[in-house]
Parts: sequence; structure tokens; C-alpha cells
Amino acid sequence: MARKKIALIGAGNIGGTLAHLCALKGLGDVVLYDVVDGLPQGKALDLLEAGPIEGYDVNLVGTTSYTEIQEADVCIVTAGLARKPGMSRDDLLGINCKIMREVSENIAKYAPNSFLIVITNPLDAMVTLAKRVTGFPKNRVVGQAGVLDSSRYRTFIAQELNVSVQNVTAMVLGGHGDDMVPVRSYCQVAGISIERLISAERLEEIENRVRQAGGEIVALLKTGSAFYSPASAAIQMTEAYLYDKKHILPCAAYLEGEYGIEGVYFGVPVSIGAGGVERVVDIALSDKEKQEMQGSVSHVQELIAAMDNVLAQSA
Ligand code: APR
Repeated sequence: MARKKIALIGAGNIGGTLAHLCALKGLGDVVLYDVVDGLPQGKALDLLEAGPIEGYDVNLVGTTSYTEIQEADVCIVTAGLARKPGMSRDDLLGINCKIMREVSENIAKYAPNSFLIVITNPLDAMVTLAKRVTGFPKNRVVGQAGVLDSSRYRTFIAQELNVSVQNVTAMVLGGHGDDMVPVRSYCQVAGISIERLISAERLEEIENRVRQAGGEIVALLKTGSAFYSPASAAIQMTEAYLYDKKHILPCAAYLEGEYGIEGVYFGVPVSIGAGGVERVVDIALSDKEKQEMQGSVSHVQELIAAMDNVLAQSA
């Protein structure tokens, strides 16, 4: 069986980490693309030279030419600006939507059968644009946000209770903004409901930290945003696709009536397998969670309207 080909569009902090993880896990040959000449080539060569030590045989190519991504099986997009302190994800809209449009046109041209994972922020708008421009069906365009936000929730719960992160299951749904929805009613530690282990007041504090967790890293780094954990999250989604795992993961998926939401990308649990996003998993939510989902949808809809304005002005 031929090796899979994974195209990483954007060779910055997340792109480089993605390439490293792809190689270490032997997921396939990697093409690292960026507009800054030398950056993708340098990172790819550096990673190639770690191969004999780590024992990976996959090929890594860095390029500024889209022809290299020809026939990729998976494309992961991180091209665009990252946040600096004081910025919200939404502040990136103007610049990143121009970049996303150009990137999506090239993916449609050179990798028309790929599974497309978008990481660039503001995520919910960028993944919407990627679907529109590529014209790919909804099962082949997905946004990475929920896996990361849920991992942050799991980390903080494990720290709070001093238990293994592997004992904690949790889901964060909704948009990838400060009004994301940590779903307390499905958060468990070794099968025990979190509400039996941590007080409601303390959970509120932890969940607020989850909502602000991206900003907490931006404030610490000062020059950019989180990159190890977003890369790990996208790799989990890639593995689910390449290995046909049918893994249920919270992702930004295109909704057509599920959760009472129509025509919007929104964070919900989905099953990812060889068919891409094979199914949206409908789960019952508490009244409070439903209300929070509604608030978050409104924000995503406003963001998309703002994006449409930006696109209309630049047309
Ligand atoms: N085509 C391809 N790459 C581009 C383009 C473009 N048109 N414009 C910019 N880039 C590249 C930059 O040259 C840079 O190398 O995108 C890369 C982004 O890398 P970083 O600045 O290191 O940002 P990173 O931390 O990787 O985050 C990327 O993901 O999580 C989101 O908010 C984050 O939107 C940001 C994105």
C-alpha cells in the first residue's frame, strides 16, 4: 500500500509541530507549504535529518509551490496570522479570510479529493469559507477546535483532582470563542460524574479558565498563540480519518438541522472515519447547556456576517 500524503499549509509554529508529529507517528509523507521562502524547506530538511535518530522513513518536503501538494490525502491548514496579547480570535478575521480564500482555491485545484482540516482562526468562519471556496462536501471539511478545548478541560480537571488525564472524559462544544460550551453533564472521571467530585462553584471557575485558556497561553508567550496542543488535536483527527477509527471527537462540523442549527459550522460531537465526518452525534443537553449553545451560535452567525462584509469589500 502506498504511503499516505499529508499536506500542511502554513509552516509556522503549528505547521512545524504537525510535521514533526506526522513523522514521529509515521502517518505518511509530508509536504510543508508556506509563502515565506526557506521556512518550509528549512523545517522539512531539519525534520528529515532527525529521521535516522527517531527511526522514521517518511519523506518530508518543504515548498512554496502548490504543485507539490498534488493528490494529498489530507490537508491541514494553519496559514494565517496568530494572536498577540490583547487580541481576540475574531480580530484576525480581516487578514485571515483573504489568506484562507487563496489557500482553499489551491487545495481545490491540487488536492481535490483530500480530507481538509482547518485550524486557522477565527475557526468557525475560516472553516465555513474553506467549504464554500473548495466546494468540497461537508464530510470532507472540518474545523479543529473542540478536541483542543476538551483537552484543556480534561487537563484542568485532572490537575484539580490529582488523577490521570486518561481517567477524564470531557467535551467542549459550540464555537471556538470565549462563549464555547464546556459540557459539564458529560464530564466524567473514571465513569463518575464530575458533579459528584467537584463543587458547582469550583467547576464554574475551571470552565471559565477553559474558555480563556487560549488567551492564557497568548499572554504567556507574548509573540504568538498555542501550538503544541492544537497540533496534537489535529493529528488525532487525522489518525481517525486515515485509520478509519470512527472516533467520536468534538469538531466544528457543518450542521443541517442537527441541534436545531441550520447552515453553520459549529462544535458538536462527530464520528470521524474513512468517510471523513461520517456522522454528527446528537446528545441530550441540559437546559443551561442548550441556552449556552444558542448564545454561541449567535456569535458564530455574527462572525460569518462580518466575514461576508470583509469579502464583499475586497471583491
Ligand atoms: N499561504 C500559506 N502560508 C501563509 C500564508 C499564505 N497565504 N500567509 C501566511 N502564511 C504562513 C506564515 O508565513 C506562517 O509561517 O502561516 C504561518 C502561520 O504560522 P504562525 O504565525 O507560527 O502561527 P501558528 O501558531 O502556526 O497559528 C496559525 O492557527 O491556531 C491558529 O490562531 C492561529 O490563525 C492562527 C493559525
